[in-house]
Amino acid sequence: MRPMRRVAVACIAAVVLSCAGHAAAQAVSRPEALLKKMTLDEKIGQLVQRAGGRQRALNSRIDEAELARVRAGGVGSYLHVAGAEPLAKLQKVAVEESRLGIPLLFAMDVVHGYRTIFPVPLAMAATWAPEAQERAARIAADEATSAGLHWTFAPMVDIARDPRWGRIVEGAGEDPYLGSRMAVAQVAGYQGGNTLRPGALMATTKHFGAYGAAVGGRDYNSADISERTLQEVYLPPFYAAARAGSGSFMVAFNDIAGVPTTANRDLMRGVLRERWGWQGLMVSDWGSVAELLNHGVAADRAGAAVLALDASVDMDMVGGVYADDLKAAIEKDPARLKLLDEAVLRILRVKEQLGLFDRPMQYHDVEREARELMAPDHREAARAIARQSMVLLKNDGKVLPLNPAKLRSVAVIGVLASERRSSLGSWKAQGKEEEVVTVLEGITAALPKNVKVVAAPGADPRTHDLSGIPAAVKLAKSADLVVLMIGEDFDLSGEARSRSSLELPPSQLELARAILGTGKPVVVLLANGRPLALQELTEKAPAIVETWMLGVEAGNAVADVLFGKYSPAGRLPAAFPRTSAAVPFYYSGNPTGRPADPDLAKDTVRYHDLPITPLFAFGHGLSYSEFRYSDLAQSTQAVGPGERVDISITVENTGSVSGDEVVQLYVRDPVASISRPVLELRGFKRIELTAGQRKRLTFSVTPEQLAFWSPRGQWLVEAGRIDFWVGASSADLRANGSFEITKTHAGTAPAAALPTRVVVSNN
Ligand code: NOJ
Repeated sequence: MRPMRRVAVACIAAVVLSCAGHAAAQAVSRPEALLKKMTLDEKIGQLVQRAGGRQRALNSRIDEAELARVRAGGVGSYLHVAGAEPLAKLQKVAVEESRLGIPLLFAMDVVHGYRTIFPVPLAMAATWAPEAQERAARIAADEATSAGLHWTFAPMVDIARDPRWGRIVEGAGEDPYLGSRMAVAQVAGYQGGNTLRPGALMATTKHFGAYGAAVGGRDYNSADISERTLQEVYLPPFYAAARAGSGSFMVAFNDIAGVPTTANRDLMRGVLRERWGWQGLMVSDWGSVAELLNHGVAADRAGAAVLALDASVDMDMVGGVYADDLKAAIEKDPARLKLLDEAVLRILRVKEQLGLFDRPMQYHDVEREARELMAPDHREAARAIARQSMVLLKNDGKVLPLNPAKLRSVAVIGVLASERRSSLGSWKAQGKEEEVVTVLEGITAALPKNVKVVAAPGADPRTHDLSGIPAAVKLAKSADLVVLMIGEDFDLSGEARSRSSLELPPSQLELARAILGTGKPVVVLLANGRPLALQELTEKAPAIVETWMLGVEAGNAVADVLFGKYSPAGRLPAAFPRTSAAVPFYYSGNPTGRPADPDLAKDTVRYHDLPITPLFAFGHGLSYSEFRYSDLAQSTQAVGPGERVDISITVENTGSVSGDEVVQLYVRDPVASISRPVLELRGFKRIELTAGQRKRLTFSVTPEQLAFWSPRGQWLVEAGRIDFWVGASSADLRANGSFEITKTHAGTAPAAALPTRVVVSNN
């Protein structure tokens, strides 16, 4: 006994000592010690983020006047800058020539790659493979940190249920559960772990909290949503990212029910910082502090500064309001100094966590930069992820995959098949057009030399010029097979790129009509940054592949899918409606008192002139193979607080080729004190199966994942029956069951943010 006791005492002593050490270190933590030495101007300087240049002329604004500002301690961070060497010079000025030597933070929108550009985020969400997202983010981080950057403005986790909103391309689509998984994957990928650490690329989860709910899909527009929709639909990915350790968050431009988020104290302090316990760096969006004047909640810039600081916006991106107007506001009311000190501390803390005080030059190794940018394995990953992102929307008569041995000539029609810029999509960081493999190049490279490949642009999505169509038709007629690539170019989605229509741009539809009218076998490739309304195209075209905007390896990845080197398995992260007028459209609506019925003679919640179903449902995507679901089982019929139900299913590849299947779990609470959605995603797993192979999947669900936001403003799990379905999409449910929640109790967190564990075993 004695020796053991001695060991125990020694341990306790060690803990006490280390605690005491910790406490002492806390008492004199570097950020706090620095804060004590800072003048009011230097404190405000830390809150200032300035633009270092436009993307095309990077670092161009870093002139002598800017360096003088840095020397005076007037800047905390730059955005839109890059390069190990130029940024080393800038950092040296901050560290060696400013009074306190506080390092700068360098930021950029590294959203789907830095130099090696991956598919746009909506496409990566279509992989339904968070591990693919994480890998892309990790590579982007390796490249960006080698080029002097500390901070990316990603992931964008805004839920979007109205595809007219141009920024749907930057996020994970319509669903909060899928969105949460993709958010967590990106934070982990960028930061390389679940705490900020030296050498990491700090993630920014944006745009907090309901930017995607812009009315009418018009970018920047107000969100007018219920508290429940906010809590259950829009906020879960933010919660998941906060839990995953996202070092920073960015505020949304818009207002929610009249409260501009940049001034939303309840949301930022109340929900994010106090309820969720997140203490990272909150940055405004570009000029959003100044825009409080336009919103009509501040009479002048000083008023805007006070509102934003009070709401806990730590850093003012570009607007210059903190730089110019905060000092007077604080001198007028010194009580505000406390808020300023808190903001400064949060900024200094992330600088410390990134290792900038100890090794400010660690991000400036030019040899590493040369090695990292577009490294061969980065390109390989870009190709693999691009293949995973494609969604086979339709494949009548098994037109696809194509057999190259049976082809003598192929016509590749469409501007988008040879235009490089569009493959890079919105936010291309340092991606280079000349490094893109186009679809035309990919197809040509994949085919044997004796197959003739001809190409014609047909019509450009940006213009109404149809004069190239006759030549394209002639060429199409001369070939055995046509690959027609149509859709939106990169500039039709993204920030401030909302469209009133989801139809194909008119020139693209005309081109499609003409080419499909030739009677030749046609495979349609779609390029677009949002769900489109494709009713006519879907009626006429036998095979349609959704390729989104796939990044630098677009052409090779498309060829892999067209010629059967890879069986497509991407799934839609947002439904494709039948017409523009059907939006907002999402699978997870409430049943209503008159649930939608396909029979037009009945008075139900539907349009009289449109089928109630989407054209392609959330979760839809075909394969070159087929999969059979069987042997559904569950571990229990009843679960209480802290318990779980395991739902198992066997999936078998019954086709003749290898392929991935995305197995999806949906739930419904059929009777509750408030009306609950008809279906909610609560689990998924992308699995790989060779022909004939079977795997068994087990989803573990807890009652807390069924919690809803109660009218009393808290998460509540109600006792009662829960129905569940396992299937291949929200409209292709293959097996179902139910279980009972035995006890009403408080929920712990936004339900959709909580992950379902999925175990896969060979069967
Ligand atoms: C405005 C955008 O809304 C935001 O997403 C982006 O990070 C900033 N500009 C910086 O480029």
